[in-house]
Amino acid sequence: MMMRAAEKQFSMLKDKEIIVGITGGIAAYKTAELVRQLTKKGANVHVVMTKNAMEFVTPLTFQTISGNPVIHEMFELFAGSKIGHIALSDIADQLVIVPATANIIGKVANGIADDFLSTMVMATTVPVFFVPSMNTKMWSSKIVEANIQKLKDAGYELMEPASGDLACGTEGKGRLPALEEILEKMEDIFTGKDLAGERMLVTAGPTMEYIDPVRCITNRSSGKMGYAIAKMAKRRGADVALITGPTSIQFPRNDIDIVHVTTALEMRNVVMEHYRSASVIVMTAAVADFRCREENCQKIKKKGDNSCMMLELERNPDIIAELGKVKEERIVVGFAAETENLFDNAREKLKNKNLDLIVANNVAKPGIGFGSDNNEVTIIARSGKMKQVPLLSKDEISNIILDSIKKILKKKRTKDDWY
Ligand code: PMT
Repeated sequence: MMMRAAEKQFSMLKDKEIIVGITGGIAAYKTAELVRQLTKKGANVHVVMTKNAMEFVTPLTFQTISGNPVIHEMFELFAGSKIGHIALSDIADQLVIVPATANIIGKVANGIADDFLSTMVMATTVPVFFVPSMNTKMWSSKIVEANIQKLKDAGYELMEPASGDLACGTEGKGRLPALEEILEKMEDIFTGKDLAGERMLVTAGPTMEYIDPVRCITNRSSGKMGYAIAKMAKRRGADVALITGPTSIQFPRNDIDIVHVTTALEMRNVVMEHYRSASVIVMTAAVADFRCREENCQKIKKKGDNSCMMLELERNPDIIAELGKVKEERIVVGFAAETENLFDNAREKLKNKNLDLIVANNVAKPGIGFGSDNNEVTIIARSGKMKQVPLLSKDEISNIILDSIKKILKKKRTKDDWY
């Protein structure tokens, strides 16, 4: 059951016709994995290669991975392909060029269409997304800079290259961005921006309270739920700030503000610094309720073989309760991690902390909640209305929570007391 939900990861790329254009850069070998990931997400991928691309990688690789013929000749007519004579750009939903060299960028920016790929870019009306990768000096040349600006002005989608070691032996900006970032941007291009204008503050992950310099009190939160909320809100057009406790997962976008904190006190201070500019606050973080009363600057030594150790703990601030007192028109959403009396405990938190919505999850159930890619939750509104959300990926759950938040925002702004 757990596996099936995980395999069916939600993606806007599912059932989409994606054209992947490959031009002649060393990063072309990475495009093979991108094509594999796209097909895994349920997209039907058609690969178009330039002549120079074929100096780096072979069409056979891409034909095998995509399951479709690879086009590399200007006057190829898709013989034997199920799309027959229909022009590829007519059936496409998105065209992504990975890697995009200075050459293809220059050609498109200046209206040159002299091979299949550049002709198709000119002919298509679907979103075209360039993922440049080249030598640092080429990337920072005035000509490339001007051409990139032309592409932006013409409405093409673009991604900045990453920095690091380059294949030519130098270091700097020019590397192909991580595949997760490319895929995230492709999802983004397909997503409606229905949360544009909202400013969301999301907390994620555990907090960590030091016992001494080497030991701490923490919990099993991985940050996945909070990161999924932040990611989906950003995809849907919201301005997002993410405040995260220590996690080992990567956020797949670099266009949101991320503040890293360790302790509950630090999280409280950063939340209170940021909440005023937010219209919605979602507290997904598993905040430690207690911290050590005494700070031990040195590692605590064991005393004798069978000795036990007493730790004196004191309460941490209840961040969401504090927000509930000062929130005014803001929407505050809490999560309730429960192991028993799920609904009663969640309702009590909703009321006592003056929240607009609470998302109850049974963290005693295997395969959901802490650490998992999936969750199964019940969203409870102030009116008592409950929405049961079955086992789904955290991305899908996030979208459903965001839909509920959107409804509340609408009702609140029209002064309807439905929620
Ligand atoms: O990170 P993952 O591995 O993906 O796991 C997700 C999750 C299980 C952590 C998440 O779905 C979840 O349930 N988060 C809330 C965990 C929690 O602390 O629940 P709680 O019932 O103890 O707290 C209720 C609410 O008060 C939460 O919104 C919490 O952020 C907030 N809180 C709690 C204590 C505190 N001192 N300050 C707070 O603001």
